[in-house]
Amino acid sequence: MPDIMANTNNGNYPIFIQSGKLDRLGEIAASCVKGRKAFVVTDSNVAPLYLVRAVDALKKEGFSTPSCTVPAGESSKSRDILFMLFEQFNAAGVSRADVIVALGGGVIGDLTGFAAASYMRGCPFIQVPTTLLAQVDSSIGGKTGIDLPFGKNLVGAFYQPRAVLIDPSVLSTLTRSVTAEGMAEVIKYGCIRDRLLFESIEKGMSDLEWMIERCVRIKTTVVQNDEYDTGERMLLNFGHTIGHAIEKVSGYSGISHGEAVAIGMVYAAKTGESFGHTEKGTAERIRKLLKKWQLPVQTHIPVEEIFDAMMSDKKRLTGKFFFVFLSRIGEASAIPTEKDSLFERMKGVWDDE
Ligand SMILES: NC(=O)c1ccc[n+]([C@@H]2O[C@H](COP(=O)([O-])OP(=O)(O)OC[C@H]3O[C@@H](n4cnc5c(N)ncnc54)[C@H](O)[C@@H]3O)[C@@H](O)[C@H]2O)c1
Ligand SMILES: [Zn+2]
Repeated sequence: MPDIMANTNNGNYPIFIQSGKLDRLGEIAASCVKGRKAFVVTDSNVAPLYLVRAVDALKKEGFSTPSCTVPAGESSKSRDILFMLFEQFNAAGVSRADVIVALGGGVIGDLTGFAAASYMRGCPFIQVPTTLLAQVDSSIGGKTGIDLPFGKNLVGAFYQPRAVLIDPSVLSTLTRSVTAEGMAEVIKYGCIRDRLLFESIEKGMSDLEWMIERCVRIKTTVVQNDEYDTGERMLLNFGHTIGHAIEKVSGYSGISHGEAVAIGMVYAAKTGESFGHTEKGTAERIRKLLKKWQLPVQTHIPVEEIFDAMMSDKKRLTGKFFFVFLSRIGEASAIPTEKDSLFERMKGVWDDE
C-alpha cells in the first residue's frame, strides 16, 4: 500500500516513504509497467552509493537494467546531456512499455523527467529522489525540465511520474550543506502550512521519515488543487520571490537555492511584519531556526538590485503582483500587493539591517 496517493488530471500515482524501500524498487516498477526494461539515470555521486542496489532490486523482478551516469551538478540539466540520454534510450531499445528511473537529487529528477516526457512523446518514469530537497519537493508535482544558457528551467513539461519511491535512509550520505538546503524547504512547509512541523523542528526533533511525510502531504495537496501552477501553488513560493532574486543577482554561483530561500524567508517575513500582515516576532523565529541549521539569514545585496531582479522574474504576472506572506507560523496567503508599496516596505527592512 502506498503511503500517499497523488491525484492529478493525468491519473494518480503512489508515493512510498520508508527507510530501506530502495530494495523494493523492482516490485514498484513491475506494478507500473508491462515491459521488462528499466533504464536508470543517475549522477556521478549517487552511482557509487546506490546504483547497484537499485539495479539489483530491478533485476530481482526480471528487469534488464541499462543505465547512464551523468556528471553530478546543475550543469547536467542541459541540452547536450538531454540529447545524450535520448541517444542512450535509443541504443538500449527503450520503448513506451518500459520504464525510466530517475535515481538522484533534483537535477536528475528534472532532467530525467523531461527526457521521459519527451522521448517517444512520453515514457513511464519513476522518481527515486535521493536528496532531502528532492524527497520533499522536486520529485512531487510533475515539474520537469532543463536549463538554457540564458535561464534556469526554461524548457520543460508538466509530466507526472508513475510512482515516487522515497527512501529516507539514503539521506545519510548527504553532505551537511546539501541536507541543510533541504531543511530550508522543510522549514518553508512548516511556515506556510504546518505549525506542528515547525515547532517540532524548533524542539530539535529528528524523525526524518515523519518530517518528509508531512512535507510530501502538503506538497501533494497543494499541487492537487493547482496542478498547472496558477493559484494555490504560489504559496510554495514563500521566500522564493526574494530567494530567486538573490540567486539571479549572484549569477547562480556562490549561493545555493536553499540558502537563497532561507534568506528570502526571513526577509519576506520581515516585510510581512512591516505591512502588518504577519504576526510580530515571526521573522525572528524563522531566523533562529534557519541559523540552527547553519543556513544564511542575511544578504548584503542592495534592495534595489533584489527588487529589479524580482520584477524581471519570468513568473511575474502583469497588473496584480501577488506576494506570499505569512499571517503566522503555519498560515500563508498570496496577497495582491502594489509594487511601489512593496518596494518601500522592503527598503525599510533593508535599512533596518
Ligand atoms: N521540479 C521541481 O518542482 C523542483 C523543485 C525544486 C528544485 N528543483 C530543481 O532541483 C535541483 C536541485 O536539487 P538538489 O538540491 O537535489 O540538487 P542535486 O541533484 O544537484 O543534488 C545535490 C548534490 O547531492 C548529491 N547527492 C544526491 N543524492 C545523494 C546521496 N543520497 N548521498 C550523497 N550525495 C548525494 C548530488 O550528486 C549533488 O552533488 C535544481 O536543478 C532545481 O531547479 C526542481
Ligand atoms: Zn525551493
